[in-house]
Amino acid sequence: MPDPRLIVALDFSDAKAALAFAHRLNPEQCRLKVGLELYTAAGPLFIESLMNLGFGIFLDLKFHDIPNTVERAVRVASSLGVWMINVHALGGRRMLEASRAALEGAHQPPKLVAVTLLTSMDTVTLAEVGLQGSISQNVLKLAKMVDECGLDGIVCSALEAPALRNTLRSQFCLVTPGIRPLGSTPDDQSRIVTPAEAIALGADYLVIGRPISRAREPDEVIKGILMELGT
Ligand code: C5P
Repeated sequence: MPDPRLIVALDFSDAKAALAFAHRLNPEQCRLKVGLELYTAAGPLFIESLMNLGFGIFLDLKFHDIPNTVERAVRVASSLGVWMINVHALGGRRMLEASRAALEGAHQPPKLVAVTLLTSMDTVTLAEVGLQGSISQNVLKLAKMVDECGLDGIVCSALEAPALRNTLRSQFCLVTPGIRPLGSTPDDQSRIVTPAEAIALGADYLVIGRPISRAREPDEVIKGILMELGT
């Protein structure tokens, strides 16, 4: 089985458009990320349609609730047969442990990763919610806790990867958005790196949305990215 490092963000508001787009992609070259907007519109049956096309799915619902509720939600998400799911590290140690426990004994458990701090959080937001220290100090602290709780990895900026790689288990996986192939526009991403730079910095999986989903020829963009990565 191929293990594509590219995860295409399926940021569409309805199932029809998303499915038409997915038909243009090759599941041996990429996985697909379904987030809150599309999942709320299209639901679990749509996830099944994407998996029937052969795609591994990252269900990006960022669970954050009391431990019992997250444990139950993770168990249901896992039963959909998706490849990766995620929770918020800020839910705390007990919530992270509960999410891990939900996957014990599962036949083919999804990879379970956590969001440390949202990249939309700046130092003002951090102070407003009562977190002390810098963004990178908080990311590192939360990542260590996620690792201790036995999760498989985190979602982070590729620019944070080198510092994290020095501190975390070597098999801990880093999933990195904020990637822009050379020549594409940054859109609203502020700290971007190219696919090759992200891998060189220590990223395992690259989440890329608009440069592919808004391209006239998405398969050509993917071909370019894979060439850049030498795969
Ligand atoms: O279109 P673009 O490549 O910017 O899309 C990136 C995807 O990764 C979006 O679905 C966005 O919500 C997600 N994401 C992100 N930054 C994070 C976490 C997730 O851009 N820190």
